[in-house]
Amino acid sequence: MFESWSVERIKDDTYRTKFIDVPKTIADWLVAHGGIAGRDVLDFGCGEATAALGIALQHGARRVVGIEVHEQIENALPFARTELGLTRLPDNLELVRLDTDSQLNSLGTFDIVYSWSVFEHVRQDMIVDCFKKIRQVLRPAGVMFLQTTPLFYSAEGSQMKPWVPLPWAHLIMQQDLFFEALRKRTSSPDQARHLRWVYETLNRSTAPQMLKAAQQAGFEVIREYKTFDEIAVPDELKEIYSLDVLTTNQLVFLAKHADPLNPVESGEFLPSRRSVKLFGSSSSMADENTQVRGKAESSDSHSENAMGPCRLHMKALDDIWSNRQYERELSYTPFIGLMFQPGSFSDFHAHPDFEEVFRLWTQRDAFRGLDLARIWSLLLNAKHTLSKQEGSIAELGVYQGQSSALLSFYAKKFNRKIYIADTFQGFSELQFEENMGEGKKAAFKDNSLEAARAVVGDYEGNRWVVGVFPQSVTEEMREDRYAFVSIDCDIYEPIAEGLEFFWPRMVSGGMIFVHDYSSGHWPGATRAVDEFCSRNHVAGSLLPDIAGSYVLIRQGDQPRDLKNVDTQQATSLDHENRNISLGGTAEYEFAHARANIAQLKQELSSLHSSRSWHITKPLRILNQRLRKIALSFRIK
Ligand SMILES: C[S@@+](CC[C@H](N)C(=O)[O-])C[C@H]1O[C@@H](n2cnc3c(N)ncnc32)[C@H](O)[C@@H]1O
Repeated sequence: MFESWSVERIKDDTYRTKFIDVPKTIADWLVAHGGIAGRDVLDFGCGEATAALGIALQHGARRVVGIEVHEQIENALPFARTELGLTRLPDNLELVRLDTDSQLNSLGTFDIVYSWSVFEHVRQDMIVDCFKKIRQVLRPAGVMFLQTTPLFYSAEGSQMKPWVPLPWAHLIMQQDLFFEALRKRTSSPDQARHLRWVYETLNRSTAPQMLKAAQQAGFEVIREYKTFDEIAVPDELKEIYSLDVLTTNQLVFLAKHADPLNPVESGEFLPSRRSVKLFGSSSSMADENTQVRGKAESSDSHSENAMGPCRLHMKALDDIWSNRQYERELSYTPFIGLMFQPGSFSDFHAHPDFEEVFRLWTQRDAFRGLDLARIWSLLLNAKHTLSKQEGSIAELGVYQGQSSALLSFYAKKFNRKIYIADTFQGFSELQFEENMGEGKKAAFKDNSLEAARAVVGDYEGNRWVVGVFPQSVTEEMREDRYAFVSIDCDIYEPIAEGLEFFWPRMVSGGMIFVHDYSSGHWPGATRAVDEFCSRNHVAGSLLPDIAGSYVLIRQGDQPRDLKNVDTQQATSLDHENRNISLGGTAEYEFAHARANIAQLKQELSSLHSSRSWHITKPLRILNQRLRKIALSFRIK
């Protein structure tokens, strides 16, 4: 529990506005975009960090980072002490002083980046770059809130009103006379020099130019608001400038990534050597990261580069490590240092979506974050396949939804349907394998559809398929074609059925990921894949993820029209028609039938010796399959 504080103590009105009103305005704008509570927030140009403190203390942000180029950031604690009675800043607030040319990647990534009364001071030729820097640290689903005032051409755009009160004085007066007037009203030559510098470094961007700069940097503006001066505009100015430019004094807008999957060009990723972390946990984290990577803090720019985008994920790994519960997990530590792969991510920020995917993946169970090889292989291959192939996505075996959340994320990005299939109550006892222990039989029962939905989210393309597969298959699913499928059911029968169902429905180039193939823990997974591959004369590759997934890629012909084969309704169709509808896949069906018959013979001969009831089920399935094929070719 953080120490107590009170707004009642605030004496300074400006402090009150910045601590209460500014955060409230930002929070109101963000309501429709997930709000602030629990989110990671960056204040771009935080000044004395009064608003950042307000966001951290009053709006439940998980992490607030305030960055500032000027020394006023150092007033954050003294002001908080006087105005709020604090003795220290809260743990969820980090303040960092940096140079204008610093990159922000070393700070991690954020759900929200906001900037209040800063962009009017940003050097004109650096505005687009600043927006790009913000985009680099904004998560794919994140939003940027920006407020800038006064705009240069407005009545008080010079920011010198206290000294030269005439509205638009800076546009009306000859410049040396304007400075002369300024000098006369300031208390010292130093103050006059400082004010002149402030004035001269204001940019001349208009509201449309500012919006355009955000768009050039890859943002899409999703909400926009302006305020206007209501005093009479001098006629001589109307002859020169448009009325809109002269009267627009404030621009507020909200923006998101125009294309969240398209990262900002990498540019230079060197964090500024002069950046100094003033408060908060970030400096100690850098040390921890360095330790975990097994290196002393170095000036090697490559290692610093790699640190940037990985910071959060490193922190998550570090948390997992510190909260470890079993001795067994010790064996994972040597691998933590290797988990920055691929280099394109850490060095060139080529997959800015990783942070969001990692968050989705670990939301129910941080320990799952250790299986980075699995996350990366699903992420890279889903993106790769979906960017090249048409077709839906499916996951058979969802449990609490972590891997489905990843797949649903990409389904949304690529505008595909995703079938999310599970009993949501663990294994069906009709599908138990021989010699399955009680522990395995009881696995995954602690689940519900609601719990999985809460993890996966409510993308409109999600199709929840509830029940024992394959009985649970819906008509829509049967009719569909697939580009990416994950089968993660652990035991023989649903995996075997899943392969049979999806393989003929895969588009060319489509991938099936089968989890657990070489885990050693689920022998049914290995058997189902091996039998399928030998029956269909296909092969796949092994992945080095924790449970040893197996990947099959469909190649060659596009899936045929399977409707008739599957539904068994077409006995009245004549042989000719059937051959026409099957087209070039008749050969495939014959090969399939031959393999099934061979397997049937084998199963029958082992039935003599085993006399196990387990044989009846595969026999029934084989029998059904043979009947279907026989019907298809009228070879009853
Ligand atoms: C290992 S868990 C899936 C984990 C999930 N893919 C992930 O990585 O987050 C296996 C799931 O398969 C489901 N399952 C097993 N047999 C099934 C069947 N015949 N039909 C539907 N779901 C089944 C279980 O209910 C369980 O939730």
